[in-house]
Amino acid sequence: MRLTVNSIKEMKHLGKKIPMLTAYDYTSARLIEEAGVDFILVGDSLGQVILGYQNTIPVTMEEMLHHTKAVVRGTNQALVVADMPFLTYHLSHEQALHNAGRFLQEGGAQAVKLEGGVRMRETVQALTRNGIPVLGHIGLTPQSINQLGGTRVQGKTKQLADEILIDAKAIEEAGAFAVVVELVPEELGRLITEALSIPTIGIGAGVHCDGQVLVFHDMLGMSVGPVPRHAKAFANLGSATKEAVGLYLSEVRSGRFPTANESFVSEGSDGASAQVRTERLLK
Ligand code: KIV
Repeated sequence: MRLTVNSIKEMKHLGKKIPMLTAYDYTSARLIEEAGVDFILVGDSLGQVILGYQNTIPVTMEEMLHHTKAVVRGTNQALVVADMPFLTYHLSHEQALHNAGRFLQEGGAQAVKLEGGVRMRETVQALTRNGIPVLGHIGLTPQSINQLGGTRVQGKTKQLADEILIDAKAIEEAGAFAVVVELVPEELGRLITEALSIPTIGIGAGVHCDGQVLVFHDMLGMSVGPVPRHAKAFANLGSATKEAVGLYLSEVRSGRFPTANESFVSEGSDGASAQVRTERLLK
């Protein structure tokens, strides 16, 4: 039985912090669920960390669906949220419903995430009224990177902070079950969290948010290229990977791998029939 959006909402009222992580494939989803994560985002950050795009703009529905299905296959308890890609929910409510519906029907996700505050109020309403749970996303909205002019902290002045607070309330009123608050000053993260009855899931939004989300590769220290300050690495798997691969290369090159431990012996003693049996085994 998977975690439900109601359980996520309930956690705020019980004062329980809500950890969320991104995942993009079967194995990592399985591992993080086995480690106890039950709230997973198939983020469109996969554009950068999996597909090597510069940003999230080129990510398509088909790419997101492909990865969402893998994450769903790798989990059986987690609430899986699929990120709606750029321009797949902006054109009309019909378009938003159609694409969000695909994530639930084909992808097997339990909810979708979309970016934007006041401007997305009616879209969120259209989805939630039709049974599609929505996780909002305000503050820095990476799909608007070209409009925002880069990845920088949002809501630093009183006026801009008020606008983000209004965005948060609009998303709550429209029926979202929770909202991601990205890259805002800690004080604004606190104000939004206190103003809403739905949980806030922060990323670079300070300690007062009801929950936190990090990108899987950042959290494990395996992202390539610059990593934002808020993305704490809890391990250094990037270096560990390179070290392990280096060891493999040197053992193959020097003939130290494979050893008897990784090799198979034949039942018979004569070389020729052993050779035939080994060939059969390998087929
Ligand atoms: O795409 C993503 O991974 C996200 C999180 C960083 C919130 O939107």
